[in-house]
Amino acid sequence: MTTPPRHLKHPLRPDGPDHGATAWIGRITADLDALERGSQRRTLTSMAPLTGGRIHIDGNDYLNLSSNNYLGLAETLEPLQATDAQFFGATAARLISGNHPSFSVLERTLADLKGTESSLVFSCGYLANLGIITAVAGRGDAVFSDRLNHASIVDGIRLSGAGHHRYRHNDMGHLEALLRKTRVSGTRFIITESLFSMDGDMAPLPEIAELKERYGAVLVVDEAHSGGVYGAAGAGLVNELGLTGEVDIQMGTFSKAYGSYGAYAAAKKCVIDHLVNRSRSFIYTTGLPPILNAANIQALRLARTADDRRQRVHANADLFRSGLTAAGLDIGNSCSYIVPWITSDSQLTVAVSSKLRDARLAALPIRPPTVPPAASRIRFSITAAHDPAELREAVSVIAAVAAECGAAAPAPERGLLI
Ligand SMILES: Cc1ncc(COP(=O)(O)O)c(C=O)c1O
Repeated sequence: MTTPPRHLKHPLRPDGPDHGATAWIGRITADLDALERGSQRRTLTSMAPLTGGRIHIDGNDYLNLSSNNYLGLAETLEPLQATDAQFFGATAARLISGNHPSFSVLERTLADLKGTESSLVFSCGYLANLGIITAVAGRGDAVFSDRLNHASIVDGIRLSGAGHHRYRHNDMGHLEALLRKTRVSGTRFIITESLFSMDGDMAPLPEIAELKERYGAVLVVDEAHSGGVYGAAGAGLVNELGLTGEVDIQMGTFSKAYGSYGAYAAAKKCVIDHLVNRSRSFIYTTGLPPILNAANIQALRLARTADDRRQRVHANADLFRSGLTAAGLDIGNSCSYIVPWITSDSQLTVAVSSKLRDARLAALPIRPPTVPPAASRIRFSITAAHDPAELREAVSVIAAVAAECGAAAPAPERGLLI
């Protein structure tokens, strides 16, 4: 007797395709219902960014406190002159016939900015992390990763097959203990964000670089949220801290402070050559549209001389953080333009966000699994495009909403990410 096909053995699909699809829809619906009950169901709302740090939602204008356009550059990138870089499609993968000349201009500009021999453009930051990590790490290797690292880093490590060792957020004692006790036949990697996307605090990069040296590890730093704002000409936190020589791969994205789209890895030439040959999210996809390369070259050029914008975003963020702190809100260890108000409870976070929306403030709730359980928050992000007077007014509204919801007292010690 032949063995029945595997799918027929599935308990939810015993009677053919219709029955299987019905059961599958049932499972999906149950999952959505569970998300709804836990105030974790997400929906898409149509939103159009406006100038001055504002946004248009459902017929109304709001102060946009949820954008990563930290320097306000998205508002200033101009429609391009008619050039051959204006193609909307690269028309093929870069290793086939899609390697438009604008890629080499962008990659040279980036490598010069980052102080590396070479660089490589990816379609977006998520794919860059996936492609970098899976290309450099594999079975027998061990990746030591901050527990609050972005999902794209977590997914890259999982897909790589390397050992995944998560250290408590910014806890150098824990990182060192893991480095010391983990037996590794291959290479040790340490991966961290430089500025954490949901907490707005910084990794202790000098200490991490020191541990990298001591334990002979490779260091990869995700500069998604610090690129463009920190460092000389916006080269990032690694540059600002004088650690360019210690970091083996600097990853970053154009989708935050550069106000555009696309991402990159910057490293030694042999590392970039390796990525070109081994990074599946680079090889098996169409190149970024040349028109975006032109926009990214323009964004790098604007950011290079944007010291006034950098000063403004820091001044606006200082004002906002001190306002929330004075109102008794828990903003964790934020020291930047990413300012979480940690409300802990998902339901409360959704209610608070809705009250802020009623007051014309767009400040979206962030819930698990994006953040750890019991660490739901409103993630405010402040930009150079905001007017300080509007931010002061926003702080008063937020303080009033916090008082109304009984959410002004600092939250108790929070648990760690699963
Ligand atoms: C730390 C970090 N890395 C990578 C990414 C992914 O970047 P992108 O939006 O370009 O895909 C993000 C963005 O959400 C991020 O916060």
